[in-house]
Amino acid sequence: MGYPVLVTVSRSEYDAFSEIYGVWTDTAPAARANLSFYVDAYLRADGPVVELGVGDGRIAVEAVTRGREVVGVDLSRPMLELCRQRAVRAGVSASLKLLEADFRTFTLDRPAALIALPYHSLGHLISLDDKLAAVAHVFSELRPGGVFLFDDFLMTPALAADMRRVQLRAEYHTPAGADALLWVTSLVDEASQSIRVVTWEDQLDADGLLARRQYRRLSLSWLEPAQAQELLTGVGFVVDACYGSFEGEPFALPTAREQIWRAHRPA
Ligand SMILES: C[S@@+](CC[C@H](N)C(=O)[O-])C[C@H]1O[C@@H](n2cnc3c(N)ncnc32)[C@H](O)[C@@H]1O
Repeated sequence: MGYPVLVTVSRSEYDAFSEIYGVWTDTAPAARANLSFYVDAYLRADGPVVELGVGDGRIAVEAVTRGREVVGVDLSRPMLELCRQRAVRAGVSASLKLLEADFRTFTLDRPAALIALPYHSLGHLISLDDKLAAVAHVFSELRPGGVFLFDDFLMTPALAADMRRVQLRAEYHTPAGADALLWVTSLVDEASQSIRVVTWEDQLDADGLLARRQYRRLSLSWLEPAQAQELLTGVGFVVDACYGSFEGEPFALPTAREQIWRAHRPA
């Protein structure tokens, strides 16, 4: 039996999530793995680099610190503020331009050489039509020869089972000093290819009793590899590569752990 699937991504999801985003990425193996992959791609690009869904800037600011100018696009003001603060701390704000905009409608001053959409973020657009609108818009904002680079979940029965488990994600102190535990589980619906990530942060008092619990949720979805390829070629991209890991292994089942697509706009 199915359960109701929420089909919209509201701005407020990441506004609330921004408070735990650092803990979230610090404890995510995928975030560790994708960091150097994207930073290397930004540094190799031969022109303007844009990161869609720049978030707290953990990738973009690293690339800027190493000499590359980056434009970061995000819908969430609190996430953009985290990014801005990170750039200020690193002393590189002048080389990072931030745009509060949607993947489907952002406007660049000049066409990009590389547009990246890291960390499963296309999945925040739930419907195929919204994903298509984003991919078509990315195509239109690239210069001829420009590259689009993104990754998506590679959903398998093992990953779905893992996501459905209740897991203690982290034990930490909040910025206000509270003793906190972060828990996570997900509703995974294969029929609609959607995921509802549910987290709850438990703050404990000095006796270890629950003082406060806060839930935060995210809506996600995934593409099957054949759908991703069709989406890319359908808007005119030429697919250069699909990798199965951030170490750059070619995509092959059953060893692939991710689907990472590199495509370019023909000259
Ligand atoms: C998983 S985080 C990735 C952040 C960063 N790229 C990283 O790898 O840590 C996804 C980001 O995409 C942003 N986002 C989600 N949907 C968006 C949309 N339709 N347009 C622009 N940004 C969006 C969220 O606010 C969030 O900051």
